[in-house]
Amino acid sequence: MAELQGAEKQRYVASLFSRISGRYDLMNDLMTLGMHRRWKRKTAAIATYGLDGPAIDVSSGTGDLALELAKRPEVDHAVGLDLLDGMVSRARAKILARGMSSSVTMMIGDALSLPFADGSFSCATAGFSLRNMPDVEKALSEMVRVVRPGGRVAILELSPMSKGIRSALFRPVFHGLVPLIGRFVAGDRSAYTYLPRSVDHFLDAERLAETLSGLGLDDVGYKRLGFGTVAVHWGVKKVELS
Ligand SMILES: C[S@@+](CC[C@H](N)C(=O)[O-])C[C@H]1O[C@@H](n2cnc3c(N)ncnc32)[C@H](O)[C@@H]1O
Repeated sequence: MAELQGAEKQRYVASLFSRISGRYDLMNDLMTLGMHRRWKRKTAAIATYGLDGPAIDVSSGTGDLALELAKRPEVDHAVGLDLLDGMVSRARAKILARGMSSSVTMMIGDALSLPFADGSFSCATAGFSLRNMPDVEKALSEMVRVVRPGGRVAILELSPMSKGIRSALFRPVFHGLVPLIGRFVAGDRSAYTYLPRSVDHFLDAERLAETLSGLGLDDVGYKRLGFGTVAVHWGVKKVELS
């Protein structure tokens, strides 16, 4: 299933996240021992650094990264967009409970066709979602399109690890323990078998950086997090001089 592409992949991913949306946050806390929260805070800080204006978090799920964007002093309003009503309604409940409804708007939408004009945002983020996209380049180019020239795109994603000690240590966790926790906590072993496998089919950190440069971003860089299991990438949209 991890090797699916196009519309077939989109249908599979939508069905998977609809099934697990109720346990999604708890599973993230268990799988990362809570570290995903720190990584999302860091991604929001990188995305917004030195900028000001509205921000968008694409494929926002239950809204964690949109909330982190909204907390940044540089951001006057954050939008979180996700394909699934199950995710968006949970994000809205979370935002309401935290009293942040005036600074974050959640909406249903497709990352491959963002319903915003060119240059609408100072920055765009995506967390743990690119590898689930039916067309990674299209999703990235939409993020680049809706960011204004001089604005930033930041991506937080799991990274495939090359063979070595770290890979030998983490593979049994990803491919053995995660599906087991998924079975008992989310009641869905197959979803949590797909998720680690999808990492093996995704771009490694260096190739993702090259893809961002190829889409016209400058100052592309990345930092590995979580013992190299995760990377945050960034790049700045070129300012066209007339
Ligand atoms: C692994 S979750 C990540 C959620 C959140 N960004 C986070 O970091 O916790 C992947 C999300 O991508 C969403 N998604 C998948 N395909 C999408 C698409 N084409 N457009 C928008 N969201 C999509 C799913 O609904 C799901 O909420």
